[in-house]
Parts: sequence; structure tokens; C-alpha cells
Amino acid sequence: MSGASQINTLGVLGAGQMGAGIAHVAALAGLEVRLADADLARAQAGKAGIAARLARDVEKGKLAAEAVEAALARLTPVDGLAALTDVDCVVEAVTERESLKLELFRQLDAACPPHAILASNTSSIPITRIAAATRRPHKVVGMHFMNPVPVMKLVELIRGLATDEETFAATEGLARRLGKTTVVARDMPGFIVNRVLMPMINEAVTALYEGIGTRDDIDAGMKLGTNQPMGPLTLADFIGLDTCLAIMEVLYQGTSDSKYRPCPLLRQYVDAGWLGRKSGRGFYTY
Ligand code: CAA
Repeated sequence: MSGASQINTLGVLGAGQMGAGIAHVAALAGLEVRLADADLARAQAGKAGIAARLARDVEKGKLAAEAVEAALARLTPVDGLAALTDVDCVVEAVTERESLKLELFRQLDAACPPHAILASNTSSIPITRIAAATRRPHKVVGMHFMNPVPVMKLVELIRGLATDEETFAATEGLARRLGKTTVVARDMPGFIVNRVLMPMINEAVTALYEGIGTRDDIDAGMKLGTNQPMGPLTLADFIGLDTCLAIMEVLYQGTSDSKYRPCPLLRQYVDAGWLGRKSGRGFYTY
């Protein structure tokens, strides 16, 4: 155990796609990781997924078997966030729902040691508001990873109004230790990446809605015409249409600016349960 400026033991709350990705890179980087979800079984399932992905990297010759074995030995699934009692920092990566995050930050504040930093991987909820749910707002910070975490190089860092410099510097050091490059965004709706990315995706959905191009032509146009690795509709399916809609709602409501109005077609797909890759159908079928 050490001061907040030295993060050796990392808690990750949420063992889904993002949380598992964060636990994966942290364990490989040599940190002790405690992976928590609503219960132990979910945390164990998260670890099993990480183990399978790491095994594929060994097969491809990208990682040594010993390095993977050591990383997995450092990664411990735990039973709920109440077990995060020996961590220097927690990164929360649960569903993007404000009421849930506020409640979990209250619980993290009670469970974690006083020196621990509480970071949120939120893609759009104000860090200042999350911080205010705790008695340590100076130790709350935004640490926004991109999907898929092991592949994407960026972490967006966000200071809440009360975040202190020691917390910010320790978080920056952690991101660097995980092999990521950081950018700093103000605590405003969408931060940098989603402020720019989501309106582009929303506009691609609008282009489809208005019949400006077919699905395939919109994606091919942006992929081949602007050198993006995926077309915007493919990327929307990859991120999850419910997540895209939730972020557009945050931009729209947070700025009160009609230019962020979610496309009705995006809303209709979400209403239908067509959420993209994870539900088997979005703009494409999987
Ligand atoms: N976990 C670990 N590694 C993964 C992975 C995952 N989930 N998915 C893909 N990879 C790895 C593959 O193993 C492969 O590695 P090697 O080249 O070493 O073998 C590499 O990534 C490339 O994968 P593929 O060959 O299967 O496919 P690809 O070349 O089409 O790349 C991609 C896939 C990396 C996802 C690429 O299409 C891409 O960069 N897409 C854009 C992703 C993006 O924009 N992400 C940000 C979304 S926004 C966000 O996350 C913020 C938010 O708040 C919404």
C-alpha cells in the first residue's frame, strides 16, 4: 500500500467489455488488479474472457506464455465493490447510467481506503457531478478509455471542478504506465472524443434516414474517403446504438443546443432493441 501518487493495486469496477479491457492492460503492465462486478461470478466471467484473449495473443506470438501467466496471477476477481478495500485507485466502468454511477461512487467512497483515487470511465457524464456524490471530490477524476482498450492508444483525462493536482498527476502516470497516450478535456458534455465523434455518427444515421446514401455507401464513403478504419454506421454498431443515443442525449440536454438532436432513426433502432453487435442486429446483422 502506498500514497495516492503511487498506484500499485488497481480496482476495476465493471467486468464488461470496457472494464475487462482495462483490467487486461493493467495486469499486463504489472499492476495488481482486483476485478469487481455486481457479484463474483460476473467478475470471474470477465477474467475468463481476458484469459481467452491473452491466450490468442500467445498463439499469435504477440505475447510470451510466461508474461500472460504472470499477468493472470496478478488479476483477482472479487465479490462486489465492498471487497475493494486494499486498492490505491479504482477505475469504474459500468453501464453509462447516471443514477447507477452516482450510487456506486457513494459505495466506493465508503469501501475504499481514504487515499484511493476514484476514476470514472464515463464517456459523457460530468465528473464534477460524480465527484459530488463522494466525500472525496478532490480524488475523483475522469479516465476515459476507448474500445477496444487493448488496441486503442488513447485515454482522455478529465478534471472535475474539485480534482486536485496530485490526483491528476497520479492518473496521468497510471495511463502512461498502461502504455496509453493522454489528452486532457474540460468537464463539458462529451469531453473531446465524443463531442466530435458522436455528432459524426448521428449525421451518418441522418444521411441514411434522409436517403442521401445507402448504408453501404455511407460507410464506404467515410471509410475510403476519410481513411477511417470502420465506416460510421459499422462503428455505431460496434459501440452500441444505445450508448450512441445516450451520449447524444447528454450532448443535447447538456448544451441545450438543437444541433445535437439525436436522429429519430437512431432512437427507433434502440426502441426496437436493435443495439448493434451486442444484440445481433443494428445497421448490420451479426
Ligand atoms: N480486444 C483485444 N484486441 C482486439 C480486439 C479486442 N476487443 N479487437 C480487435 N483486436 C486486435 C486484433 O487481435 C488484431 O490484433 P493483431 O493485428 O495484432 O492481430 C487487431 O486488433 C486488429 O483487429 P482485426 O484484424 O480483427 O480487425 P481490424 O483490423 O478491423 O481492427 C479495430 C479492428 C481495431 C476495432 C479497428 O476496426 C478500429 O480501430 N476501429 C475503430 C475503433 C474505434 O474508433 N474505437 C473508439 C470507439 S469510441 C469509444 O470507445 C469512446 C466512447 O465513449 C464511445
